[in-house]
Amino acid sequence: MKNILITGGAGFIGSHVVRLFVNKYPDYHIVNLDKLTYAGNLANLKDIEDRPNYTFVRADICDYDEMRRIMEKYEIDGVIHLAAESHVDRSILDPFTFARTNVMGTLSLLQAAKVYWESRPEGYEGKLFYHISTDEVYGALELTHPEGTESPFTTTASSTEHHLAFGTEFFLETTKYNPHSPYSASKASSDHFVRAYHDTYGMPTLVTNCSNNYGPYQFPEKLIPLFVNNIRKRKPLPVYGKGENVRDWLFVEDHARAIDLIFHKGKPAQTYNIGGFNEWKNIDLIRVMIRTVDRLLGNPEGYSDELITYVTDRKGHDMRYAIDSRKLQEELGWEPSLQFEEGIEKTVRWYLDNQDWIDNITSGDYEKYYDNMYGAR
Ligand code: NAD
Ligand code: DAU
Repeated sequence: MKNILITGGAGFIGSHVVRLFVNKYPDYHIVNLDKLTYAGNLANLKDIEDRPNYTFVRADICDYDEMRRIMEKYEIDGVIHLAAESHVDRSILDPFTFARTNVMGTLSLLQAAKVYWESRPEGYEGKLFYHISTDEVYGALELTHPEGTESPFTTTASSTEHHLAFGTEFFLETTKYNPHSPYSASKASSDHFVRAYHDTYGMPTLVTNCSNNYGPYQFPEKLIPLFVNNIRKRKPLPVYGKGENVRDWLFVEDHARAIDLIFHKGKPAQTYNIGGFNEWKNIDLIRVMIRTVDRLLGNPEGYSDELITYVTDRKGHDMRYAIDSRKLQEELGWEPSLQFEEGIEKTVRWYLDNQDWIDNITSGDYEKYYDNMYGAR
């Protein structure tokens, strides 16, 4: 495979995947296709933008004719599809945008790939459509320890202890889909279309479902970058509900490594769950962030605790996500490279060291810059 189309490469996870592929595979031509919505930021890729094996194309995945042109122009052999509307809170306010991009956009990309690949003499030989999905499609798991109990672990507890702390059920690749938010419903729908293209047309497709990612370049509407920035700026930290919800956190570069491995070694028509066996109750994670930021900024211990502000819960807030990624570990030999303590320290440091990156976003300047270059969003 030589010409790889990565969609959503100007976003959080996509930028890490693009960087990994551009650096690791000089023989591949990496085409990064992104609409540059509010979540897309080419500053995420400054370090690789001049590489000879990299091309950026601004386009909307919903534009079917444009997708057809791009597949042909760049003679695309493999698609890694990350472009999506990704923020649950936005989906509650504006579900139509999520259905448009995540469902119709995925469908238009699938159809463009199908028509192009079927027109080639080699057909589907050596081709792959890899769709990046989420654990949220599986619904929510119960939290089995009594509400209000402090998490029975420290940041040095092992993964197994983390797991057992919150419940005995996990999401498996065979878990029935049961999405609750407009975001997860739109992702579930797109997953079904991807599998339908395999089952109906024989297109080689793959789906992976990953847990919450964290790390550099995440848009500061998501929990970790938002809270690190607010702690630094001494703004309130809006904790939804009681802060009891549990998320399973994976360092974004480990997700990118998993995508690389699965893209090259995964079996078409399969699903792989990706997760780091690293569950955290929100309030405990928030306390870790507060301690880390205060220590790195030289504030006294407990200095920022007063910023914690309990606010009205997110509508339909899923209680617990927990991914079982043993299939990926056992079949393809993937494992996360970072312990959480190391990953969160690295991440908090990155946001503190890259305040300009956040300020550029919160001021809206990043949008103006690229609008001048590529036209209004
Ligand atoms: P993000 O919001 O940071 O980035 C999304 C990117 O897609 C942006 O660059 C945006 O400009 C682009 N985009 C949006 N609509 C588009 C359109 N119509 N046409 C072309 N480009 C468009 O998202 P993320 O957090 O990096 O997530 C990437 C993918 O991974 C998504 O599919 C998401 O569902 C999935 N995922 C995310 C997580 C997570 O924790 N962030 C976990 C599991 C799966
Ligand atoms: O599980 C994978 C999913 O993780 C991805 O598919 C999504 O694209 C990604 O956005 C993420 O979804 P979450 O809703 O879990 O992430 P978020 O960062 O928005 O919230 C994490 C938890 O923190 C969640 O329980 C809600 C809570 N929260 C979030 C924000 C933004 C707060 O308590 N306060 C906040 O201000």
